[in-house]
Amino acid sequence: MNIIGGSASTALARQVSEITGDKFIPVERKRFPDGELYLRMQQSVAEDPVTIVQTTYPDEHIIELFFLIDAAHRAEADTITLFIPYFGYARQDKQFKTGEPVSAEALAVLLSHHTDQIITIDPHKEHIIDFFTTPAESISAVSSIADYLKDKNIDFVLAPDKGALDRANRCADLLHCDVDYLEKTRIDGSTIKITPKQLKANGKTVAIIDDIISTGGTMATSIHELTKQGAQHVYVACTHGLFAGNAIQKLTSAGCEEIIATDTIQSSYSKVSTANLIAKTIQKLPS
Ligand code: R5P
Repeated sequence: MNIIGGSASTALARQVSEITGDKFIPVERKRFPDGELYLRMQQSVAEDPVTIVQTTYPDEHIIELFFLIDAAHRAEADTITLFIPYFGYARQDKQFKTGEPVSAEALAVLLSHHTDQIITIDPHKEHIIDFFTTPAESISAVSSIADYLKDKNIDFVLAPDKGALDRANRCADLLHCDVDYLEKTRIDGSTIKITPKQLKANGKTVAIIDDIISTGGTMATSIHELTKQGAQHVYVACTHGLFAGNAIQKLTSAGCEEIIATDTIQSSYSKVSTANLIAKTIQKLPS
């Protein structure tokens, strides 16, 4: 097996190859004077299976991924597996208003071209997997997050909305603690409203778990609700830390103890590695 890391996920892909012992294929990249991307795989992948690891966020990494797939296909790779740690555009998974695209589906269809299988981590909604026209599956980083939280004496895990409840339940099971959830209404991209609810938060240590932190609005509002009700320590954890705009400042000033994300999107908050999880999944692929 050969492993190629797109520029959103080079470090992660290299770690995976170190764990699995697979060959890491270096890629030369440069920009033409007009800004267009040039890339070239620096070793042959002919007649060997290839796994390309690349997060599809921000947009520039999507175009690079198309070129990596095309390069591997033209180089006559035996099979092409796409490992997408964070599948961007997943929240645009239906048409909310006439005239809109279903961006998650549009992207999934295009990425399926020339690929034999696609794997992604904690997609925003499970039905997104069905948008791919090649065999696709999702895996979850919840157990890795729970592992990181296990020394924090968490009293209960909170889902900031019902959509996050399944994930919070799995995390609470692994931490052997309680679980609760909030009812969230999204007003617009950066404003949400939480229905007041009595939580058994007084004096407690709570971990709020979500798939994504973007503007931080969901988490910050949840932290406020918890601290209003007497929570002593609040950890926020997500698989995909986008941290748009002043998200970090919002979370810090809301009083959160620690911000935890995985490395599906690399940042200084990537405290949980998904390398082992990806390596284990790749090792199970049919050769
Ligand atoms: C939405 O349903 C997601 O699961 C997250 O709750 C959401 O993307 C978080 O966004 P923000 O950080 O902007 O509130």
